[in-house]
Amino acid sequence: MRSFFRRSAVALALLASLAACSPKAAKPAPLELAFTCDTNGRIEPCGCFAGQYGGLTRLKTWLDEQPAPRPLLVDVGNAIEGPADYQLLKYRYVQRAYAGMGYSALNIGEREAQLTAAELRALNASAPVPMISANVLDAATGQRLFEPWRVIEYRGRRIAIVGVLDGSRGSEGLGEGVTIEPMNTALEKLLPSLRGKADHMILLAFADEAALSNLAKQFYEFDVILGGKVRQPSQQLVIENRSIILYTTNESKAVGSLQAEMAGPSKLTPKRFDIVLLSEQIAQNQALHQENDAYRELVRKTKLMVDDVARTRPDEVPGVRPTAKYVGSESCATCHAGAAEKWRGTPHAQAFVSLTVHKSDADPTCIGCHTVGFGTASGYRREYDGKKLTGVGCESCHGPGSEHVAQRQSGEKVLFKFRPLGAADCTTCHHGEFSRPFKWESFWPAIKHGKEPTVALK
Ligand code: HEC
Ligand code: HEC
Ligand code: HEC
Ligand code: HEC
Repeated sequence: MRSFFRRSAVALALLASLAACSPKAAKPAPLELAFTCDTNGRIEPCGCFAGQYGGLTRLKTWLDEQPAPRPLLVDVGNAIEGPADYQLLKYRYVQRAYAGMGYSALNIGEREAQLTAAELRALNASAPVPMISANVLDAATGQRLFEPWRVIEYRGRRIAIVGVLDGSRGSEGLGEGVTIEPMNTALEKLLPSLRGKADHMILLAFADEAALSNLAKQFYEFDVILGGKVRQPSQQLVIENRSIILYTTNESKAVGSLQAEMAGPSKLTPKRFDIVLLSEQIAQNQALHQENDAYRELVRKTKLMVDDVARTRPDEVPGVRPTAKYVGSESCATCHAGAAEKWRGTPHAQAFVSLTVHKSDADPTCIGCHTVGFGTASGYRREYDGKKLTGVGCESCHGPGSEHVAQRQSGEKVLFKFRPLGAADCTTCHHGEFSRPFKWESFWPAIKHGKEPTVALK
């Protein structure tokens, strides 16, 4: 903060002297900048509990409420949720939503770079908002997969937006045919060609706090550096060398906003900065909600990798026998009538209905925690369409039960034993965005069972 004040003081003095030199020059309108990072495919929040923040649905409402003109809008990366086929389908809708809001550029983040070079090329060819990256390259040719920068006319000024991704973790996790050049190398090569083409320069850097600060130290060209690969949004505006550094994250829940005076050539003076939390008090835009529905309809009709049994994970009971299969809660109920009775009275039994109501019952983003064994060979499959293995069943927690049922029914020696369960088996689903904070003491009593008598065997 100290350096901020020092810088502002210098800037104010500079401004005053400029004004004195040319009294006729009208004060230029300020730059209004808004930026997002880590949208994570969230066109709207999942709805797993009341009071969730975020979603592009809320971002749109917030933007529409801002005084004109629209801020310059950019995304720093990780707008996609992941590289799976349905996530790529959804990303197209995310991009359309960004286009509708008037975004100027989308930077390539860590998760976008998990797509293959061919997928990235196809996206680049048809993206409704220009995708940029100076250092995400085609591994085969060494050529850039995207334009490294673009220049926007904003309130009479030319603003260059440059994109980079910190690839210092190496090629681990990168999509097939994709490679990353070090940010510094890419920028050193690029900057000479940008000289004189813009009045102000903004760098979108999918990088952590330390790397952002290093970029500011190494390159004096950037007025603003936006990140990043961080755990928390900026707590305060930082000025390093001559760059304003700001960052945001948190799965679409926080949008960064900066107002800066475009004083003199190549000089931005920050006037106001904010990390705006998109709280549940902000209404969700209905047009974007319909876009999400459109994605859900498309994904319902599209054949996906998860539909291909050959590609699903083999059945497994952690640490026990790998041969058991899912049989469904009805099979358990024949002997565990008491436990089944209790289970039917819990929200777990209705978990699939909750998806159907929201038309998300074919969306792989949602199905995993609202069915039994989705993604494994004998688990729930999308073509079952609500008839089998739906809801959070007995085996969602206890694991596949075919061996147990077979041995208990036949009266053979019982070799199979279900493993004991605890809170860690709940937080596979009850975590993060998908649950109110999980506490065993308050959640277990609501579904407690297991001491009921088992129906005697013949
Ligand atoms: C043919 C009857 C029968 C069926 C069907 C059956 N169980 Fe059991 N289960 C038993 C018996 C008997 C026990 C031993 C405990 C008892 O006597 O109460 C048992 C014990 C268990 C235990 C305690 C741990 C263990 O491995 O002994 C769990 C957990 C369990 N069953 C879950 C299930 C689940 C889940 C299903 C459905 C996939 C299921 N059972 C189906 C009869 C059955
Ligand atoms: C396979 C995923 C999954 C696992 C594992 C799981 N849950 Fe759940 N749980 C859900 C879902 C989904 C819902 C919401 C169901 C609905 O309302 O549609 C839920 C709801 C609940 C609720 C009701 C919350 C409310 O709003 O009233 C309680 C209580 C609960 N779970 C406790 C547990 C406990 C305790 C465990 C571990 C022993 C556990 N859950 C394990 C998915 C899971
Ligand atoms: C990681 C597991 C997980 C995923 C993925 C997941 N859910 Fe849930 N969902 C839960 C849990 C756990 C609950 C219960 C939360 C609680 O009670 O705090 C829940 C509850 C719900 C509820 C019931 C809310 C209520 O109050 O009745 C709805 C509706 C729902 N989820 C929709 C979705 C949709 C739509 C998606 C996909 C976009 C989705 N879920 C993805 C775990 C998940
Ligand atoms: C949300 C997770 C969850 C679901 C769903 C669930 N259980 Fe359980 N169950 C547990 C936990 C946790 C325990 C207690 C810890 C333990 O004993 O392993 C338990 C205990 C039991 C026990 C006693 C185990 C023992 O060792 O004595 C039986 C039997 C049982 N469950 C059967 C069922 C049946 C049958 C269903 C479906 C009708 C079911 N459970 C659904 C989590 C679940």
